[in-house]
Amino acid sequence: MSESAVVYSKNDFLARARGARVGGAGLDLELYEALRRRRTTNGPFLPDLVSPEHQRMLVEVAAMAPSHLNSQPWRFVLIDDPEKIQALAKESGESMTQVFRDGTFFKRYRPYFRFSKKEMEEKRDGIYFDQLPSVLRPFTRQVFSPAAQALMNRLGVPRTLGEDNRKLVAGSPLLLAVLLDKTEYRPGELSGFYSIFGMGAAIENIWLMTTELGMGIQFVSFPMEVPESWRRIQTLLDVPEDLELMAVYRLGYLPEEKRRPSIDWTSTQRKRIDQYVFRNSCATPETEPSPELAEPNTAEKKENGR
Ligand SMILES: Cc1cc2nc3c(=O)[nH]c(=O)nc-3n(C[C@H](O)[C@H](O)[C@H](O)COP(=O)(O)O)c2cc1C
Repeated sequence: MSESAVVYSKNDFLARARGARVGGAGLDLELYEALRRRRTTNGPFLPDLVSPEHQRMLVEVAAMAPSHLNSQPWRFVLIDDPEKIQALAKESGESMTQVFRDGTFFKRYRPYFRFSKKEMEEKRDGIYFDQLPSVLRPFTRQVFSPAAQALMNRLGVPRTLGEDNRKLVAGSPLLLAVLLDKTEYRPGELSGFYSIFGMGAAIENIWLMTTELGMGIQFVSFPMEVPESWRRIQTLLDVPEDLELMAVYRLGYLPEEKRRPSIDWTSTQRKRIDQYVFRNSCATPETEPSPELAEPNTAEKKENGR
């Protein structure tokens, strides 16, 4: 196999990266580790305030991202005012209650939901609900049926979940609003696409930096599902006409022991390389490397005493 045709599977990535391909010098794997460890935080943060230095680092690394013609279309609002956090948390909890009560959430996102490990391993994408409130557990697979929905509403599940979510956001020491400059963000035009592309890169930088700082991050997305709620947040943040509010995140330091919310999922599974990479044309899925390629080379084996 030619050098260029070598693919890195999860198993052999580290062995290869440490090896001879970089002139024996070995790679600095800190970046790889940060990429591998990056996760979405579904549970609570420590109550500790995020230090001003760390806040500054987060927005500085965001601005290191690429953007079309170096336009830097992103804007950020760091929200550490407890009153604003409470108000935003209220919007988040209430909008979650609403989309759970009227079934919108389940209707919109059903294709992504997995209810068994087996299903997750087969599909290798989506989110696996491995934690459901005890009242819903007997239903699992039918949890989104009209009957289950009616029962959930009767039992006040949406209100309970919304309240859990409100507390989760209210207990976050820092919220971050991400906005785009509307002179660049023009939906339907290339510039609009480019702006979103750059914003994604900026957010990924922040996301990776949280990993480095012992912090976690999660979208506060329910208000986006309810237009009036999103408008109220825009007012709360004094968003001017020339900016578009794109997303809100909650951030904080991670506790040693992670507590899980009453409804929770895992989403660490990733597709196999041949499900998302092609070679030379979309007609040829990339192949997994043969087992001998996945093994560290002989020199490495010797070095590792094997
Ligand atoms: C555009 C986008 C929207 C997302 N929306 C939400 C969200 O609403 N709530 C949430 O908890 N996570 C959200 N996420 C995080 C994804 O659920 C998460 O990245 C995915 O399940 C993989 O899990 P991981 O980040 O832990 O690797 C979003 C991620 C992206 C990129």
